[in-house]
Amino acid sequence: MAERTLSIIKPDATRRNITGKIIAKLEEAGLRVIAQKRVKWSTADAEAFYAVHKERPFFADLVSFMTSGPIVMQVLEGEDAVACNREVMGATNPADAAAGTIRAEFAESIEANSVHGSDSVENAAIEIAQCFKPEELVG
Ligand code: CMP
Repeated sequence: MAERTLSIIKPDATRRNITGKIIAKLEEAGLRVIAQKRVKWSTADAEAFYAVHKERPFFADLVSFMTSGPIVMQVLEGEDAVACNREVMGATNPADAAAGTIRAEFAESIEANSVHGSDSVENAAIEIAQCFKPEELVG
């Protein structure tokens, strides 16, 4: 079924100027970028987006990392987009990521892991609404 998911290209990837390489992988996997913007999050932005992780020991470091440079937020559309994007991203920890995935090829560490992707259709809708206005999605 055609779905939408939220993708974020993280500061480690914008810093190394590899956003195009990452987008190519997403497109090759059958995903279509229907909204995209490059922004720099404030601490409040990052804390709000990752609120679900606020009790985790890595939360403060995660917020600090995600505000350390620009990010590229995207809405991706395609067949089973949530699962498709998670497959092409690879495991959270690049040490566990399958060969050929974005994180296996580009991630530096579990924190600087180049991309975020929604983990469910339900969370995708929430995250898309946090990052984009409806009229910014052009399918
Ligand atoms: P992401 O998909 O953006 O969701 C939360 C992020 O926290 C995750 O990717 C990782 O980059 C980051 N993170 C940092 N440390 C850990 C950890 N120990 N376990 C899981 N995620 C972590």
